[in-house]
Amino acid sequence: MSTDDVERFFRDCPADDSAASRVQTFLKRQHDSTGNLTRPVVCVTSGGTTVPLERHCVRFIDNFSGGTRGALSAENFLQAGYAVIFLHRRHSIQPFTKGLPSGQILDFLTSVLEPDEGPQQGVHVTESASELVSSCVQRAQEAAASGTLLRLPFETLFEYLKSLRAIAETLRPLGRHAVFYLAAAVSDFYIPWPQMVEHKIQSAEFGEGFHLELQKVPKMLGVLRRAWAPEAFIVSFKLETDEGLLITKATNSISKYGVHAVVANILETRKEVVHVVRPADTDNGGRTEIDRIARGQEQFIEKPLVDDVVRLHHRYLTAA
Ligand code: PMT
Repeated sequence: MSTDDVERFFRDCPADDSAASRVQTFLKRQHDSTGNLTRPVVCVTSGGTTVPLERHCVRFIDNFSGGTRGALSAENFLQAGYAVIFLHRRHSIQPFTKGLPSGQILDFLTSVLEPDEGPQQGVHVTESASELVSSCVQRAQEAAASGTLLRLPFETLFEYLKSLRAIAETLRPLGRHAVFYLAAAVSDFYIPWPQMVEHKIQSAEFGEGFHLELQKVPKMLGVLRRAWAPEAFIVSFKLETDEGLLITKATNSISKYGVHAVVANILETRKEVVHVVRPADTDNGGRTEIDRIARGQEQFIEKPLVDDVVRLHHRYLTAA
């Protein structure tokens, strides 16, 4: 895939350029009155992109990801002192909500609506859930008050890649203090906008079956790394179902796209163990370095995973 393919992809993308100004405003808040950056900034991508089959979209192809990895990682980056741009699939899992059963929120609440109940009147969290809910609310309020979390939603592949490019270009002046942590599951195939039908595909127009031809999405990792944010610390992800392919594919991403680390995970075991694969160190005889991260005693693996990424980023900063 060439630079022309990338240019063509963006030229044909349906327009929505709202991300850049929101990121710009957010970034200003991460500087003090003398213009110094107060904390590093990480862009965490989360959830799966959709590929629409119609411009007025009724049907679409989806990518696997509930958004747990991204949401929990965003929390841990905030905890580690980073400002977080959370580029997430709309309605996917959000930071500070893990543990709250999203479908059963009413089970958490009791309602007292009798007028003579005085101060008891109103809606209350049930006692068994109150500790969990108040911890979630408190942490969410702290992030809101400190102005260190920006949420940007996407739905389609087009929205995701446009926003990613806008974020990268806006963060470019931060140099090595910007991190990209690309946990979103991004479509590899799509229908370009000019070739997409306007209205709902009519099944009556097709006889035996419906053949769909998809085109390859230009891989954006290389352009992100080399053109959009050349000094930023880039962590990409690799999801596989065949254990035998995982480390080789992660290693290939490093040599092909020049990313600083690849988080390699297997679908079924991704919550228990991941590998952080890094470029060969000259001190290590040119061999790829691999940190094996296990959940261990932690409730969620994202805590040791983000700790490892933060450690690598600090090393990258001091190596400058
Ligand atoms: O959300 P959860 O349920 O918690 O699951 C988390 C996860 C398994 C989704 C996550 O840990 C993960 O592995 N995410 C990446 C999955 C994936 O789609 O990998 P990929 O092989 O398609 O892409 C590899 C990398 O290339 C990604 O970092 C992606 O940002 C990038 N990419 C992909 C397509 C494309 N056109 N351009 C890209 O740059």
